[in-house]
Amino acid sequence: MKFLVTAGPTREPIDPVRYVSNRSSGKMGYAIAEAALDAGHDVILISGQVSLQPPRAAKLVSVSTSDEMFDAVHRDASKCDICVMCAAVADYKPASVSPTKIKKRSENVSLELIPTRDILDSLGHWHDRRFLVVGFAAETNDVEKNAARKLREKNCDIIIANDVSSAKSGMDSDVNEVTILFKNGERQKISRAQKKIIARELVKIFLNSATIMFDKKDVMISERS
Ligand code: C5P
Repeated sequence: MKFLVTAGPTREPIDPVRYVSNRSSGKMGYAIAEAALDAGHDVILISGQVSLQPPRAAKLVSVSTSDEMFDAVHRDASKCDICVMCAAVADYKPASVSPTKIKKRSENVSLELIPTRDILDSLGHWHDRRFLVVGFAAETNDVEKNAARKLREKNCDIIIANDVSSAKSGMDSDVNEVTILFKNGERQKISRAQKKIIARELVKIFLNSATIMFDKKDVMISERS
């Protein structure tokens, strides 16, 4: 099958030298890309700026802003069977970007932020889609409740919920602990483990769901023949 995986943070420019971003390391997305490749699948990895070595067999598309990531995902999504939106896309971006470096002044400054386009939502609501849509919900409170709301509102097939309130797992860490929420209401937990181990389990779950939901077996058979 063909995977599309987004990973890492986006950077939303304020001026030529400053941006709004977040602490995402890209480790979970890169681990999923690697696990899918190891299982014999094709991967398009659309990545924000991270300090990780991309898996060599992946087709890497490097992006910086949420708009660039949106366009890159939309270019390739319909060619894929499983879209995993693991990137920590900025929810807001500056309303305008200064063409020159903003000068330091003694008074307060405020920055007007506007919502970015939601890539996951756009895939979930893609007309007549034939690909599995997987989202992530990094939460600090009411983790499963917020993740269930996202699953419903963004019309995903699967949401991976993780608690990022602890410094020991989640963002920027090598370990994670996740709960998988499925569209049919089922839930499954993967207890604390290395992101690489979790990624392997997740890839198996995605393949199984895509096969059941979209009858993707045909794709695997025709790819082999
Ligand atoms: O709504 P929230 O940002 O918490 O949702 C997180 C999920 O949505 C992640 O899968 C993330 O990759 C995706 N997302 C997106 N585009 C945005 C914001 C989030 O694809 N603009």
